[in-house]
Amino acid sequence: MRFPEGFIWGASTASFQIEGATTADGRGPSIWDTFSATPGKVRNGDTGEPAVDHYRRYAEDIDIMRELGIGDYRFSIAWPRVLPEGGGAVNRAGLDFYDRLLDGLLEAGITPWPTLYHWDLPQALEDKGGWPARDTAFRFAEFAQVLRDAFGDRVSDWTTLNEPWCVAFLGYADGVHAPGRREPAAALAAAHHLLLGHGLAAGVLREGGGESRVGLTLNQTTLRPYTTSPADVAVARRADGVRNRIFTGPLFQGRYPADMLEDLADISDFGFVRDGDLELISAPLDYLGVNYYTPHWVSATADGVDPSRIESGGDSGAFVGCDDVVFVSQGLPRTSIGWEIDATGMYEVLVRLAAECPGVPMYVHENGAAYDDEISADDRVHDPDRVAYIDAHLRIVHEALKAGVPMRGYFVWSLLDNFEWAWGYSQRFGVVHVDYETQRRRVKDSGRWYADVVRKGGLPR
Ligand code: FCB
Repeated sequence: MRFPEGFIWGASTASFQIEGATTADGRGPSIWDTFSATPGKVRNGDTGEPAVDHYRRYAEDIDIMRELGIGDYRFSIAWPRVLPEGGGAVNRAGLDFYDRLLDGLLEAGITPWPTLYHWDLPQALEDKGGWPARDTAFRFAEFAQVLRDAFGDRVSDWTTLNEPWCVAFLGYADGVHAPGRREPAAALAAAHHLLLGHGLAAGVLREGGGESRVGLTLNQTTLRPYTTSPADVAVARRADGVRNRIFTGPLFQGRYPADMLEDLADISDFGFVRDGDLELISAPLDYLGVNYYTPHWVSATADGVDPSRIESGGDSGAFVGCDDVVFVSQGLPRTSIGWEIDATGMYEVLVRLAAECPGVPMYVHENGAAYDDEISADDRVHDPDRVAYIDAHLRIVHEALKAGVPMRGYFVWSLLDNFEWAWGYSQRFGVVHVDYETQRRRVKDSGRWYADVVRKGGLPR
């Protein structure tokens, strides 16, 4: 099962999840420093310190990628390292870290894919209102300008945002992510200002001219109605509006979906949308990044649903205006983080997005699985479940290609075990194991397997 010539094989990480060194060289605090220092917010009281000490061990991590034959590396740039106050004075020492990283990657023949925002908002900006405040979008464009001026000579693929849904709705509605606010109306404003920030930053990054391409990364998912009843179909439409179409509407059609505005009218009048915003937001993308892990099934009622199939907790608090929606499990096997495994959901997501933004090249920017890995007596990490997960999803990418979806690459989440947000260090997603006591890296079986896929440019049939 071969992938087309030029198909990109990469690996992903994010600054706060791997770097550590949260107070080194003038870095300012981020909302995740504050949040993780707040008792009860992150499992086991884990924080971003020392994470996997990538700030100091980046050269070793580049060597690992080179050995595995990974040709593209998606990482994020910590805004509070570069602009400790969110805007204004630039911290040269913070930029220097990414300078070293970029040079090391390029020397190793690895193409850098920096993301500007993977959730570590400078605390100084949250103190001024965070993403629900319009000014944050303009500060984000300022950050983009600093990065373009510093790195535009070495970066050709920029990603503005990672998963704005998580930022807006896990951060400002559900409160399970930083900054931990539970304000549904503010979450809707945050979603808009994230998109505005994307539009403004994309304009700035493109001003650099040259070959640079600008995209963003969405984590769309399926909201499948549990039955074909009109009531289930109606809640699925509503949940899809605030989960998926709230982003794809403005990005690809230049407007918010009318049914979604109507559904949410009691919560917000969307008065935060100003003239010209939607034109900026809907400027054509050079590519789209897609993250996929798990699908959702929704029901209008718990009646008639096997009680063991009703999902409690999860992301449901993030679905603004959907308090009545019942999330239902399919009874499928789960990864250790509790997410059900269903690669067919990825197929639906890819095909749908390809129809929504025709002709835009697409990359899977994240996909992978958490398992409770152990180091075996032979000093290796045998993780067949992770191999099976990645294998199944790669086959889906291949199916999507056959269906005409312009898939151009796949980045596995994650290169390294790391700080998994509210789950702390309890969930291991890496294809490389990290011993958190010693920081020793060990390539897992999945990493060796992935290297083989990369070398062959495909999978065995
Ligand atoms: C995604 C995030 C990434 C990681 C994976 C497991 O939502 O973008 O940082 O936490 O989930």
